[in-house]
Amino acid sequence: MGPPAIKYITTPIFYVNSSPHIGHLYTAVLADTLARWYRFRGHPVKLATGTDEHGLKIHQAAAKNKTENQAFCDQVSGTFQTLFDRANISYTDFIRTTEPRHKAAVQAIWQRIESQKYLYKDTYEGWYSVSDEAFLADNDVVDSRQGKIAKESGQLVEWTKEETIKFKLGEFKGRVADWVTTNNVITPASRAREVLQMTQSADLADLSVSRPASRVQWGIPVSSHPDQLVYVWLDALTNYLTVCGYPDADIAQNGWPAAIHVIGKDIVKFHAVYWPAFLMAAGLPLPQEILAHAHWTVDRVKMSKSRGNVVEPNAILDEFGVDPVRFFLILNGGIENDGDWSNDLMKKVYKKELAGQIGNLFARASSAAINPSSIYPVLDLAHADVSDHVLRARLTALPSDFVTHMEARHFNKALTSVVHAVADANRYFAENAPWTLDHDSPRLQSVLHHAFETLRLAGLLLQCVTPTKSAELLEGLGVPESARGWDACAVGKHGASAVRGGVLFPKL
Ligand code: MSP
Repeated sequence: MGPPAIKYITTPIFYVNSSPHIGHLYTAVLADTLARWYRFRGHPVKLATGTDEHGLKIHQAAAKNKTENQAFCDQVSGTFQTLFDRANISYTDFIRTTEPRHKAAVQAIWQRIESQKYLYKDTYEGWYSVSDEAFLADNDVVDSRQGKIAKESGQLVEWTKEETIKFKLGEFKGRVADWVTTNNVITPASRAREVLQMTQSADLADLSVSRPASRVQWGIPVSSHPDQLVYVWLDALTNYLTVCGYPDADIAQNGWPAAIHVIGKDIVKFHAVYWPAFLMAAGLPLPQEILAHAHWTVDRVKMSKSRGNVVEPNAILDEFGVDPVRFFLILNGGIENDGDWSNDLMKKVYKKELAGQIGNLFARASSAAINPSSIYPVLDLAHADVSDHVLRARLTALPSDFVTHMEARHFNKALTSVVHAVADANRYFAENAPWTLDHDSPRLQSVLHHAFETLRLAGLLLQCVTPTKSAELLEGLGVPESARGWDACAVGKHGASAVRGGVLFPKL
């Protein structure tokens, strides 16, 4: 048997027309949480993120900014990369679509699809949304005060008539529908149903996959038709293959097919209809899972530049710290339904769950008053009472509960299971009133042991969400780095270390 297969996880690549907001950070933190989680479970993981830099939308943004295209892309791509570094996104590749390796991949997949006779020259006449970089059917467009807009995104559309090369998308409808149903690839199920409807819709016609170079001006040329540039979504989606070394390397060795494409709900059609069809046409394997999350609203209002309510990620990282923000995003971020950001809610979670539960238990159990010799006692079941056994039962179930929730992509439930266990331990701690017990009494040893075991398990399981704070906590508990993997995740696996208390979550 060879080495275990790589789990390849991706984020969407981000448009560089404007700087990152909290929704972008969320997509990245979610993908990073999964990447760290699977590494913790023993898989080799590859995590790719990056920026989407071609197309009319980017060209217009650069022009507006009076900057040359490539320099503009360099600048905005840099703000994404800096943010992701700061937010501890453990990416193994940062792909930019203006890189030569990507151009090679796009031209190669184009040639594959072309050689299979799935492309033909035609004229496109219909609506185009530059903001969404999408061709839209009449049914996708409605009237508004500003003019015609895309129904789904609310972005302005323009009537377009141009020379194009079309992809025979219609031929793949049935196969895409079968793939979605038989493999359960789309999470959550409600999005899978939407995708099935899309594949059955009469509006799903053949798709333009190129635009005139004279019009778009910024993109990858079609080798066989130099007056055409590759449609930006075919260009962008191919990034997932570029990262695996397509077309020169053995992509199977490098993680393809992807284990999970993490995306937002607005780009499901591109990933779950167009992408599998392109891959089928090129004769390449299909991704294993598409995890589509909902969006963030701000104080219950849709976030938009025109409303001026866009949450700037660096500002909240400054105010609350990286790990508390990551924790909040995963706790309250919506998969099925939109999540809501508010500074008040963030403060509440910080105070109640992080400082109030995890920080509090750690501070109390390591305090000089209760634990003057700063020890993490070994387990001595001879002195366990009912309350210890109840807590132990709770802790025994915790790791497997956490696995169940992570596998079901119920991230909120996974985090809540940990917070509830720590809350139980805080109650247990108070009920045992350790401040009334003699310092060398076996009861105190047992209470301290179980308080620390709770924290150790919480620290281990939360590593995927709050890597820095977890490391700080485990360090404080005297848990060596070699004992921070999944196999250490069981009650009674640790003891007899020196504890170094401290303030995990300082007052805001
Ligand atoms: N460039 C395309 C993706 C190409 S992938 C081959 C794109 N870029 S984007 O910058 O507009 O969006 C990137 C991700 O951010 C998407 O998954 C999108 O859903 C997500 N979000 C954008 N606004 C969001 C919120 N308000 N909330 C949560 N996520 C949001 O689309």
